[in-house]
Amino acid sequence: MEKFDLVVYGASGFTGKRVVVELFRKGCHENYRIAIAGRDAGKLRSVLKWMNDEQSVQGDAAIIEADTSDYSSLVAMCKKAKVVLNCVGPYRFHGEPVVKACIEAGADYLDITGEPEFMERTRMKYNDAAAEKGVYIILACGFDCIPSELGMIYAKDTFSGTLGSVENHFQLTHGDKGMTGNYGTYSSLVNSIASVSSLRASRKSHSGKKVPVCGPKMKVKGIHRKEGKFALPFFGADVSVVKRSQRFLYEQRNETPAQFAMYYSTSFFQMICIILFLIILKIMTLTTVGTKLMLKYPSFFTAGGFTKTGPTDDQIAGAGFKFTMLCKGYEKIAECNTSMPYDSEMVLGVSGPEIGYALTPIALVQSACCVSSERELLPGRGGVYTPAPVFRDTSLIKKLQNNGVSFSIISEQKKIEKN
Ligand SMILES: NC(=O)c1ccc[n+]([C@@H]2O[C@H](COP(=O)([O-])OP(=O)(O)OC[C@H]3O[C@@H](n4cnc5c(N)ncnc54)[C@H](OP(=O)(O)O)[C@@H]3O)[C@@H](O)[C@H]2O)c1
Repeated sequence: MEKFDLVVYGASGFTGKRVVVELFRKGCHENYRIAIAGRDAGKLRSVLKWMNDEQSVQGDAAIIEADTSDYSSLVAMCKKAKVVLNCVGPYRFHGEPVVKACIEAGADYLDITGEPEFMERTRMKYNDAAAEKGVYIILACGFDCIPSELGMIYAKDTFSGTLGSVENHFQLTHGDKGMTGNYGTYSSLVNSIASVSSLRASRKSHSGKKVPVCGPKMKVKGIHRKEGKFALPFFGADVSVVKRSQRFLYEQRNETPAQFAMYYSTSFFQMICIILFLIILKIMTLTTVGTKLMLKYPSFFTAGGFTKTGPTDDQIAGAGFKFTMLCKGYEKIAECNTSMPYDSEMVLGVSGPEIGYALTPIALVQSACCVSSERELLPGRGGVYTPAPVFRDTSLIKKLQNNGVSFSIISEQKKIEKN
């Protein structure tokens, strides 16, 4: 049976259909055989029509029907695929059978999850089986966590000497039409918070060996002022994913691990709204009824921040993100486990288009193209991975740069003056 190079699963979703458009807009169909998949063939045909008529991107693709509640349909889909791009979430409900079917059928898998509990459970349960089968299961290839993960690779390769820590300040921008999030992401967030206790339990039982710290231990700061804005500790998946990757790169490649912290920089008013939302989220998800209410009325609980219809094309086109990464370390190669003050610093930037529905499709498509065309550069024989270890030796940064994501030096490396 001839296989499709790339199969977009969940292609009828708000994000999935933008992944399909991204593939065709970039002409990937000229080099890769593409199929789109989901649980409803009618909806999938409408996606192709929407792409041709409303997005002015021409193309056609084979259609595969598969439902996450019907495992045999998933295996049949995966048998037709070399690489599956999974856009069906929340992943804590729908992800596991797709991972399992990919391993059984021998297809590589990438997704856009930002759910730590799903990621850690998948790694514990399926790493050995995936490695045995020689299949790559690559998690978090969307905004969670490609910019942070590839930003860390860029920082390590750009910093001369030994990179010890990176403090990442993240900002969102939007045009005059504002910006909203789609229900799929909101639902994943609410369900993740509702299940935070199972994440804590699984972390406790699998704490692993200690990774050495190179330099003074980084303290996570509370809310603080930074360049006229308020910086809040970022509660997304990036910190845990970067830590996992730094551990892997240290254990498998003997790379000095760098510490990582991330803050969201915002205005005073928005900071108050976020804190209020987090308090409400925490209280409501203590009970099943509260969780159900939050899921039923996204717009009400987020004051219009998330809606069931998602953002408009104009809103997506006007929005963007910016990382400012303060990198510190030693000018010379240093031994790990030193607590000597750092003597060198530089500032790097990563920026790009709107995170959920512009950057995420770009990141997923370029990651999948790397897996497809540079498979010999991936580590080991397969397994469950976070992005940085998989893409360490590939051209993914270059590919992202060619597709509207910027990696740049904001301030050259210089000596840290002693007080
Ligand atoms: N990392 C990031 O930055 C990022 C960005 C965007 C989205 N995401 C994540 O991506 C996921 C999707 O988000 P979204 O906004 O696109 O959500 P969405 O619009 O609700 O799309 C969900 C997709 O899943 C499909 N689906 C649901 N149940 C299914 C089942 N039983 N079998 C097969 N397919 C099923 C839906 O198919 P139907 O059309 O048939 O209902 C639809 O295609 C979420 O988990 C979200 O958090 C991550």
